[in-house]
Amino acid sequence: MFDGFNSDEALSRLRGSRRLLALTGAGISAESGLATFRGAGGLWEGRPAADLATPEAFRDDPRTVWRFYLERRRRAREAEPNAAHRALAAWPGLRVVTQNVDGLHERAGSRDVLALHGSLWRDRCTSCGRETDADEGAPVELPPRCACGGTLRPGVVWFGEALPAGALAEADRLAREAEVVLVIGTSSLVYPAAALPDVARAAGAWVVEINPERTALTSRVDAYLAGPAGEIVPELHRRAAAAPPMS
Ligand code: OAD
Repeated sequence: MFDGFNSDEALSRLRGSRRLLALTGAGISAESGLATFRGAGGLWEGRPAADLATPEAFRDDPRTVWRFYLERRRRAREAEPNAAHRALAAWPGLRVVTQNVDGLHERAGSRDVLALHGSLWRDRCTSCGRETDADEGAPVELPPRCACGGTLRPGVVWFGEALPAGALAEADRLAREAEVVLVIGTSSLVYPAAALPDVARAAGAWVVEINPERTALTSRVDAYLAGPAGEIVPELHRRAAAAPPMS
């Protein structure tokens, strides 16, 4: 699992780093029982889940898109953060930038999580633009309505939409300043998030990918750890904490 990685230097780097960044995707929540987008289980009622995460799908069929998101809320509510979420939350000085909307990093105790693709737990009005916390009681009628009469949509980013104001600039800054970047559980196919490891590496960071499968990014990282996040991340944390400080 840690072949070619067990060097003192690698672990000392992790231990000594004050600017450590984790970039996470759907794979980190797989062991919490939440389906990834592109893997097996990424279908919803026979359709690719990613097809429902588009403004076009919402325009054509808002009820179906809402049913999909209500189901995702239900599953995320019932899921628990796993050992990988918890290890990141316990790692001193580590910042999390995630593409996930499930809120599991926050529930594991990570603070200042930068959620590039928004949150499952927010609604936004398509007329007045007001954002509110999601109403936990299932709406009687879909799509739900804003107080202004407009149609509400989930407060997440869909394909072709801009990321929340400032979020990408902040993620870019964190990537440039990072000494070590852990890229965990993402296929690295969706931009602009997928560009962040390259931004970090060009600025001198050491980039480690953790994923059971090779991805679009694997050929451009400094180390690739093949395996599930729930096993690798806690073990990495444990070994880094025990490593001698870099001389
Ligand atoms: P994907 O579904 O594209 O990729 C999930 C990745 O997780 C794959 O590379 C898997 O190999 C990996 N994986 C699976 N199980 C894992 C485990 N136990 N530990 C670690 N990795 C594991 O998900 P994302 O890359 O997050 O965007 O997808 C990016 C974006 O595309 C999502 O945020 C979403 C989607 O459409 C929007 O909705 C805008």
